[in-house]
Amino acid sequence: MKIISSIGEMESYSRDARQKKQKIGFVPTMGAFHEGHLSLMRAAEKECDIVIVSVFVNRLQFSPNEDFDKYPRDMEQDKKLAEAAGVSVLFAPTADEMYPEDFSTHVEVTARCARSLCAKRRVGHFKGVTTVLAKLFNICRPNEAYFGQKDAQQAVIVKKMVRDLNLPITVQVMSIVREKDGLAMSSRNAYLSPEERVQATALYGALKEARNIIGAGEISAARVKNKIEQILKKEKKLKIDYVEIVNAETLESVDRIDSNTLIAIAVFVGETRLIDNIMVSRATANL
Ligand code: PAJ
Repeated sequence: MKIISSIGEMESYSRDARQKKQKIGFVPTMGAFHEGHLSLMRAAEKECDIVIVSVFVNRLQFSPNEDFDKYPRDMEQDKKLAEAAGVSVLFAPTADEMYPEDFSTHVEVTARCARSLCAKRRVGHFKGVTTVLAKLFNICRPNEAYFGQKDAQQAVIVKKMVRDLNLPITVQVMSIVREKDGLAMSSRNAYLSPEERVQATALYGALKEARNIIGAGEISAARVKNKIEQILKKEKKLKIDYVEIVNAETLESVDRIDSNTLIAIAVFVGETRLIDNIMVSRATANL
């Protein structure tokens, strides 16, 4: 596995690969790999000739009051895990090269999907995400880019950017990888105290219960939302940021569960903000 930190070197590597007609798979990350990240790398490895994984903790997508400074970083471990997952290149650019002093151009999706859910709480976050991804896509020139359903809103916004800007990239969205007890894997799980870690299982517990009542015939979004909130409120360390029931493509709220509904939640577990989601549908529920 090659480690590249210079943008110029990464560009010429990708240019060469493209000339050789090699299919490039790209997995953008902020590092501190867990099975969620590795599942994307393995999927890319299966489908592409070359897999590029970027590791860049992107300051632009963190608000001043967020966890940029304490975000977990473990390059040595990441190298080992990426190599074992069949990655061809680990691209770890420096902040100075990505954002030189005179950097002044941003890419922002302004559709409704970029204004709901997390966008309301994390102002400027998705603008930071789409800006860094526009740069990374241009540098790495992938054919396929892999994202996790864990960050469902991010995936919807990235697809919109790719469509609107006619980027020649296919966006693939892979399922959420969970711990044995259901907690969605996240680099931020490392912040949880043992007690918080136990209570954090209520996030997926509440989503599963929502799926159960929908399976039993519930179609009212308000009642499903209520049920989720009741379950989350039982845990003392949890503070609900939002519980939203939305159309999976537009991310706009719905009143009734239909064939393409996403239930998305964000919850503070102590100081740590975690997100999770599930897709539900009446059609599946009624099978
Ligand atoms: P990061 O949080 O490191 O996540 C990198 C990719 O891994 C994202 O596509 C995310 O959805 C996926 N992922 C995280 N946890 C997952 C899980 N439990 N199961 C499946 N996939 C999971 O998302 C980012 O970085 C950044 O915003 C980035 C896109 C790199 C832009 O800076």
